[in-house]
Amino acid sequence: MKLPLPPFLPELRLAKYEKLPHLFYASSAEPYALRELESLQDDEVCEQLDRLELGYAPTGGHPMLLAEIASHYGAPIAAENVQTFPGAQTGIFSTLSSLLDRDDHAVVVSPCYPSLENLPAAICEATRVQLRYERQWEIDLDEIKAAFRANTKVLILNSPNAPTGSLISAETQEQLVEFARERGVWIFSDEVYRMLELDSAHRLPPIATIYEKGISLGVMSKPFGLGGLQIGWIACQNREILEATAQLKNYMAVCNSAVAEFHAVTALRNKAAIISSRRQICLSNMALLDDFFEKYADLFEWVRPKSGCVGFPKLKSKLSVEEFAQQLADGPGILVMPASVFDFPGNFFRIGFGRSTMPRSLERFTEWVDTHRHSL
Ligand SMILES: Cc1ncc(COP(=O)(O)O)c(C=O)c1O
Repeated sequence: MKLPLPPFLPELRLAKYEKLPHLFYASSAEPYALRELESLQDDEVCEQLDRLELGYAPTGGHPMLLAEIASHYGAPIAAENVQTFPGAQTGIFSTLSSLLDRDDHAVVVSPCYPSLENLPAAICEATRVQLRYERQWEIDLDEIKAAFRANTKVLILNSPNAPTGSLISAETQEQLVEFARERGVWIFSDEVYRMLELDSAHRLPPIATIYEKGISLGVMSKPFGLGGLQIGWIACQNREILEATAQLKNYMAVCNSAVAEFHAVTALRNKAAIISSRRQICLSNMALLDDFFEKYADLFEWVRPKSGCVGFPKLKSKLSVEEFAQQLADGPGILVMPASVFDFPGNFFRIGFGRSTMPRSLERFTEWVDTHRHSL
């Protein structure tokens, strides 16, 4: 059966505009250079890479990589509780497709990365529970509870959230787990932006460590700036779901890149240094954005992101955000993502603040706003 999946709008837009000079939309942390990563390699990884044969790699992921991911989570997650994929996107597809049947129902908190809502909606009935700007993008527990049905199989969360940059509190996370546990419902938690909390005191425990039916999604691309490695994973206490997911993954890719797996091991072994340098860029960019939103409060407002490296400001103008984004692309060559890309209503647009190029993008953005103020 052909899955009724709509076009994947962020990638389509990116394919059209990725040559623009100002990628103000960017959704991952500052890219890490291969040479820089290689300089962090320890003897064990060097030795493995020296004698690496480029036949197929182990199907579920190299044991060294599985062990590093497991220690990144801590107990009760062990290497056998981890399944790796070529990227988080493959992880979402394999996991949700193996979890959901056409008679099931899914509850999805939106806005979110499009596959998290489009895929369940293509397989079964799915109820979207929308975060609201007026609530500071905070989850409304009662709305989530009301969306549950007798056949609800999974609650899909994305926290830290993209595109809003919001983060649920530990208390809300506990309440969600308690409610899902009572109903025997899985929680699929896209945590790809975890570790980039602006205040690390707000970092949540991975769902896989606190809920026996919790599935945590992680990846190298977002906090590590290593999207080119294409290494993603899920962690889960339940072996059956990992095996079912692996079955589906095997139809998409036999294994990961053998070389990338060792670079991912190096990144995980050096995560404190790598992520703190990435967070530093986010924090200094955030200071510039704070000034901007204060100065331009008549035209823009936002809920200041708590985590990740993206935010979702609101354009306060008679101009539609699509037209605004188009003019920015056609004029100074600045790429932002209008809310329609996330199938979300309202005059919101996504910007990224994880890159060292952001101050320059913001400068050009500010100049454009100053010269076009009369038409906004
Ligand atoms: C919230 C979220 N989840 C998953 C993904 C997929 O990650 P990757 O492209 O590294 O597979 C993305 C990518 O933008 C994302 O923003």
